[in-house]
Amino acid sequence: PTYDLIRSAGRVVLNKRLGVWMVPGYEDVLTVLHTPAIFSNAAYGMGELPPILDGAEIMINADPPKHQPLRKVALNAFVRRSLRKMEDTIQQVVTDLLDDPALADPLAGGGEAELVNAYCRPLPAQVIARLLGVPLSDLPDFVRWSDDLSALMDSGQRGTPEHQLRWQRGADSGVEMKAYLTDQINRHRREEHDDLINDLLVANENGILDDKELLATCVLLMIAGNETTTKLIGTSLRLLGSNPDVRRSLVEDPSLMANAVEEILRYEGVTTIVPRNLTQDTTLAGVDLPAGSIVMALLGAANRDPEAFEDPNRFDISRHTSNRHVAFGHGIHLCLGNQLARMEARLALSAFLNRYPDYDLGDWQYRGVFLTRGLEYLKISVGR
Ligand code: HEM
Repeated sequence: PTYDLIRSAGRVVLNKRLGVWMVPGYEDVLTVLHTPAIFSNAAYGMGELPPILDGAEIMINADPPKHQPLRKVALNAFVRRSLRKMEDTIQQVVTDLLDDPALADPLAGGGEAELVNAYCRPLPAQVIARLLGVPLSDLPDFVRWSDDLSALMDSGQRGTPEHQLRWQRGADSGVEMKAYLTDQINRHRREEHDDLINDLLVANENGILDDKELLATCVLLMIAGNETTTKLIGTSLRLLGSNPDVRRSLVEDPSLMANAVEEILRYEGVTTIVPRNLTQDTTLAGVDLPAGSIVMALLGAANRDPEAFEDPNRFDISRHTSNRHVAFGHGIHLCLGNQLARMEARLALSAFLNRYPDYDLGDWQYRGVFLTRGLEYLKISVGR
């Protein structure tokens, strides 16, 4: 309803309270994302990172021409890692989490389990840690650091005690993680390993990235996909819980899963907004916007634009060719981890449905966060 309201107010709408311009239409969102010379990523806050990057630029904040080399190294490393190897890693993490007594025992005993903390949250952090090659014994530290850093994306209002606490915790964890990753990178320089840090070093053989940028890339990979993938898996389990027919069809025909994940991303995508900063005066959809303005491309609204998607408010996993959602953005900043995130969601959901084809939803609660949307908790039970 909020998206419809914004859409009815115009193609470019000023949010007077925040002083930002909102762009809800699919085609207009694409225009914004495809014109980085005017709609810049420079002021993009990765939440509020504490000063752990030593001033190194990260791709999500970079504009052309700096953006391309930063992205190229990470992209090459991802290609080297191959989806096949990523699949093995994800499958292992998924199985371990489903076998964990914290999740398995209450459900086996006919009780209730809370899925966000038991399943959705640890999954992406463990996957990226294992991909990067963090030894299993260091995994708990690693997951804690990444949780603390990811929590900064959602750190509440500045000046409040909650914000202060989260910031300090994030900063402390950031320092620990930086020291740890620096050691890991040095270790990988001495010995070859079959992991993503090795792939990054190989992809950077020509020294495109300096040491600070290399470290910053690892940090970015660590945190960019955590909160988002957690939220995607949680949202999916909630949606499938509320739509038993859809769930049943996925249990009967697992080949529908890939398309179901695409429809979930369209229908209830996680990253609802990406912000841009105007580098110059410009006109968008007939509205004059001054340099320095902040423009919010509303990905969530674009994915429900009736001019781009037929009957957009209908959740329909058979929506095939018409599904051109922008849940991972578009253009030069298209989510680098989109294939990884898709695979994590597919495998996490398939394995879960295999084990618990008939779960019942208990309480769940969305947490309204500015740029991303997802569940704070999701309780389920089986066989009641
Ligand atoms: C960029 C969403 C998972 C790494 C983006 C952008 C979106 C997005 C919308 C574009 C931002 C912009 O245009 O300003 C998501 C969602 C995810 C997810 C919804 C999960 C469901 C991941 C994962 C990783 C990752 C798993 C890596 C491990 C990145 C990086 C960028 C990015 C590095 C910056 C790309 C660039 O600036 O060139 N993501 N993401 N993301 N994402 Fe993701």
